[in-house]
Amino acid sequence: MDLREAIRTTGSVRDFRDEPVADALVVSILDDARFAPSGGNRQPWRVVLVKDVAIRAQLGALMQPVWDEYVAASRTGATPFNPVDYRPPPERIHASNALLDNIEHVPVVLAVAADLRQISALDASLDRVSIVPGASIYPFCWNVLLAARERGLGGVLTTFLSRVEPESAPLLELPAHHALAAMIYLGYPVHQPTQLRRKPVEAFASVDVFEGVPLG
Ligand SMILES: Cc1cc2nc3c(=O)[nH]c(=O)nc-3n(C[C@H](O)[C@H](O)[C@H](O)COP(=O)(O)O)c2cc1C
Repeated sequence: MDLREAIRTTGSVRDFRDEPVADALVVSILDDARFAPSGGNRQPWRVVLVKDVAIRAQLGALMQPVWDEYVAASRTGATPFNPVDYRPPPERIHASNALLDNIEHVPVVLAVAADLRQISALDASLDRVSIVPGASIYPFCWNVLLAARERGLGGVLTTFLSRVEPESAPLLELPAHHALAAMIYLGYPVHQPTQLRRKPVEAFASVDVFEGVPLG
């Protein structure tokens, strides 16, 4: 499909048709996604296609409390888990989440990990949360979603599992020095969203300095 159209219309899909996705198709998606950029071209990604329903169910159970906290924090107006001023809400709100509720039936569940020995974390010593290392893994994740879209599939990336990495690592036999970066869910969409709500350029781009004249 046209690259511009793909970039502008690849929205999240969380509701999948009851139609299996062949392993060969997943392989071909990963075969495209691997052309993503990464620092030093070290390609730190590792991917697990989680097929075992028992493992899926356990991962879902681990992620549910994270979702509950996310919902409770959102209702206070906070950005949940933000690294600047996040304060956990007094109590979690149990909220159903279609992805987690149906995790055993989602056609494709991928766990994406990054080999931290292959990543240069240039901002790791600053007095704030480190953001640069993620840039060596999330372009790959986004390529997975774009490559899936090109094949008529849809999906969504989630990061809840990272919050419970110590508990989930043994289930996935995560190697030492690896970080869980994302879970990616894929399948044939019940509905493919194409009208995405995004801020206009002038809302986030400026000239010379960040508080300068808006660009656009
Ligand atoms: C880093 C990251 C984490 C995300 N985590 C979740 C998540 O945990 N659960 C979920 O349903 N969607 C998750 N998403 C998808 C976002 O909610 C989605 O990209 C955003 O709301 C835009 O929605 P749209 O694609 O429908 O326009 C995540 C996306 C990113 C990039």
